[in-house]
Amino acid sequence: MTDFQKKKLRSQDWFNNLEDPEMTALYLERYLNYGLTIEELTSGRPIIAIAQTGSDLSPCNRHHVTLAQRTREAIRTAGGIALEIPVHPIQETGKRPTAMLDRNLAYLSLVETLFGYPIDGVVLTIGCDKTTPALLMAAATVNIPAIALSVGPMLNGWHEGERAGSGTAIWMARQKFAAGEIDAKGFLEIAAASAPSVGYCNTMGTASTMNSLAEVLGMQLPGAAAIPAPYRERGQMAYATGLRIVEMVHEDLRPSDIMTREALENAIVLGSAIGGSTNAPIHLNAIARHLGIHLTNDDWERLGFNIPLLVNMQPAGAYLGEDFYRAGGVPAVVSELLEVGRIPHPAAKGANGKTLAENYAGIKATNSDVIRPVDRALMRNAGFLNLKGNLFDSALMKTSVIDAAFRERYLSNPEDPEAFEGRAIVFDGPEDFHARIDNPALKLDANCILVMRGAGPKGYPGGAEVVNMRPPSYLIKQGVRALPCIGDGRQSGTSGSASILNASPEAADGGGLALLQTGDRIRVDLGKRSVNVLLSDEEMARRRERLDAAGGFPIPQSQSPWQDIFRQSVTQFSEGMVLKQATEHQDIARK
Ligand code: FES
Ligand code: MG
Repeated sequence: MTDFQKKKLRSQDWFNNLEDPEMTALYLERYLNYGLTIEELTSGRPIIAIAQTGSDLSPCNRHHVTLAQRTREAIRTAGGIALEIPVHPIQETGKRPTAMLDRNLAYLSLVETLFGYPIDGVVLTIGCDKTTPALLMAAATVNIPAIALSVGPMLNGWHEGERAGSGTAIWMARQKFAAGEIDAKGFLEIAAASAPSVGYCNTMGTASTMNSLAEVLGMQLPGAAAIPAPYRERGQMAYATGLRIVEMVHEDLRPSDIMTREALENAIVLGSAIGGSTNAPIHLNAIARHLGIHLTNDDWERLGFNIPLLVNMQPAGAYLGEDFYRAGGVPAVVSELLEVGRIPHPAAKGANGKTLAENYAGIKATNSDVIRPVDRALMRNAGFLNLKGNLFDSALMKTSVIDAAFRERYLSNPEDPEAFEGRAIVFDGPEDFHARIDNPALKLDANCILVMRGAGPKGYPGGAEVVNMRPPSYLIKQGVRALPCIGDGRQSGTSGSASILNASPEAADGGGLALLQTGDRIRVDLGKRSVNVLLSDEEMARRRERLDAAGGFPIPQSQSPWQDIFRQSVTQFSEGMVLKQATEHQDIARK
């Protein structure tokens, strides 16, 4: 027996506490009922949880139910005992009002499960958008050895001979439908074509982004993020992951050893190079808070804005998940960034115990159109801008999806940047938008800025993915396919809109958007990183007084007890939208 095997594991407090045989007997007896033996449970073998996010309700992650069999076999082979445990379901496309609301609920419940039961280490089955941050946040709080396993993206979608990407195909179909080019049946056909198999969204949406970030953070084995769900390599990766978690328990390698500030900063850089989702800053900032690390949107701009876009995937580019995997996936991108010295912390340590440089140096992309070398990048400065002003303290703009003409005009000359102004058209939540956008009385033209408020963490609990608003159909028919959008909600990671979003604080939490009126002029100066409504401080103060006298910005009734709890205890998007109580409890397994 080696030294590390002599170390007592936390599960033995439950299963093998000879000073308290009565409690041990009670803890142990029921776990025998499917064939485990007393000898096994008292042997000191690591008890490894497989935190199962797949189910019939969660189709993006359902394939994990199958993959878990391979992970179990590996855990047993390595000398551990596997217990598959349910995670509160989160399906991005199925949950009302938004799956984002359940990120913190799944987090809370997994913390209680990992903390309260005899578990020495955990395999986090990640995939669909919010499952990845929820599980990484829980691992951060409990801080027992943990490794993540992606379910992998779907196969490429195809429609009429063209790649049809998840979400992105829907945003395009939405415009065609509004312009009268397709009917409802045609709309559904495009949607179905974009989702051809098990797995998560095949675009570089929030799922591909967060799974890639989980890999570069070091929480997945190298190469684990991009393997499409149906490929044989996916099952093989499930096996390798199961073997490794048992070793990690023996080595006592914990999330706080892996997800360091350095690793988080590496993740910001990769997030830019892949053209990652605007949900990623919310999630990564949240993961950081649970580790006691203060990561902010200023860090995202400082470390990420001047990173080139290397991955040519929809919505910022042309390809989809299978292409990304075949071209080399995350390893080829990290390797390219390492080679040109753009990875800030090559010595950060991953789940396999090796450094980022050891894991990724010298891996060449096999298709240089899908994964570009830095000197042929799709775009030079591709990260997020962090904008501020009298409407909010922080809002993000994803510059990798700004079209070339707009970029040339408003962003390319940092010495003398041109600002733009527009007339605000204000909507109070998505229902208001849908009810009024096509109403000719709004008199929208190409110089308007669409504003969505009441869509933040408190206003629309969890925040609605609605800031990527389409122009009215009469403008689309005239050829205006997009208008600038500002809002305190989010947008889908699969959206190609260059919106200014995640505005914090939101209107429902005292933010300046609450004071805005349709017809106000807004000035956006990307060079100065500012967004301001052109009103005097006195006028803003008068409006604030009137709003306060009227009882403040209206917040709709909560529809469930959780919505109510969430609203009372949640922070703003810039802070990760975390539960205030959750960041105060670090490392709880050792308390
Ligand atoms: Fe589940 Fe996109 S909807 S990954
Ligand atoms: Mg989404």
